[in-house]
Amino acid sequence: MKNLKFYIDKALKQHFALGALNFSNMESSQGIMQACKNLKSPAIISVSEGALEYMGAEFTMAIAYACKKICPYLFLHLDHGKSYTVCKQAIDLGFDSVMIDGSSLSFKDNIALTKKVACYAHKKGVLVEGELGQIKGIEDNVVAAENHFTDPTKAKEFVEKTGVDMLAVAIGTSHGAYKYQGKQTLRFDILKEIEKQLPDFPLVLHGASSVAKTLVEQINNYGGKLENAIGIPTKLLVKAVKEHNVIKINSDTDLRLAMTGKVREVLTTKPSEFDPRKFLGSGRNEITKLVENKIKKIFLSENKA
Ligand code: G3H
Ligand code: 13P
Ligand code: ZN
Repeated sequence: MKNLKFYIDKALKQHFALGALNFSNMESSQGIMQACKNLKSPAIISVSEGALEYMGAEFTMAIAYACKKICPYLFLHLDHGKSYTVCKQAIDLGFDSVMIDGSSLSFKDNIALTKKVACYAHKKGVLVEGELGQIKGIEDNVVAAENHFTDPTKAKEFVEKTGVDMLAVAIGTSHGAYKYQGKQTLRFDILKEIEKQLPDFPLVLHGASSVAKTLVEQINNYGGKLENAIGIPTKLLVKAVKEHNVIKINSDTDLRLAMTGKVREVLTTKPSEFDPRKFLGSGRNEITKLVENKIKKIFLSENKA
C-alpha cells in the first residue's frame, strides 16, 4: 500500500523530500492539492493545533478527505502537537501522522511524552515525529527564544527510547518570516553528526520557508509592512535533500505570504470588487504556483507519486 511510510522510505532512497505544507482553510488546502496533483508529487498537508482549533475537527477532516480523494498521495499530519491529548485527538480522527513537540521539555520528559504518544499512535498505524533541540521563532503555542541546536550525541538514544518514525532536528532553521540577523547558514556539520548516529533515519526540517523577496515586495507594494523579512536560501534546502536524509520539509510562512500578497493586490487594484471568490481564488492560485515551484526546485518530488 502506498501509505506515508511507503513515501518516506522512497524519499530516503531516492533523495527527495515530502513538502509538509500547512493549511488553515479551504483555499490554502486546494492550492496545495492542485500543485501536487499537477506535478504528481506526494506531500504532507499539515494542520497546527491553532489551525485545528480555527477550522474545527469536522471541517479539518472534511477538507482533508476531499484533498486525499482527489489526490491520494497527500497525507494529513498534526504539526507541533504539544500534548498527549491533542495527539490522541488527531490519531482518533484519522490523521496519517502526528508530531509530538516535546522540545521545550527536559530530555527525560521529552522522551517520556514522545514515547507515550508513539505507543498509542503505533497501535493505530499512525506515524510519529518527535523533535530534539529547539527551533526558534514564534508560532501558536510554540515559542523558543533562541536556537538550541540538536545535540547529535543524544539523537540515537532519543529515537531508540521513543520509537519515533521521523526526527525534527534544529540546525539553524527557524519559524516565521524573520529567520536571520546575520549570515544565512545551516549547521550541516551537526546534520552530518546526527546522520552518523542515525544512519538512514528520516529527518525533518521545520522553519524552512524561503521568504522570497518577490513575495515580501508583493505585500509591501500593496500596503503591507514587512521589514527585514528573510528566509532559508533555496540552495541550502536542496543540499539537505540531495546530500542528507532530510525527507520532510515544513513550510507555512511562504504560503501565507503568497496568499496575503495576492489578496492585497486584488483588493487594491480592484477597489470595487467584493466577491470573496475573486480575491481568495487568486490567492489560492498563487499558493499553487508557489508549491509547484517548491516541488520542482526544493523537494525534487515531481512524478514521485
Ligand atoms: O510551525 C508551524 C506553523 O507555522 C504553525 O503556525 O501555529 O500559527 O498555525 P500556527
Ligand atoms: P516556516 O515558518 O518557515 O514556514 O516553518 C513552518 C513550520 O515549520 C511548520 O511546522
Ligand atoms: Zn514547525
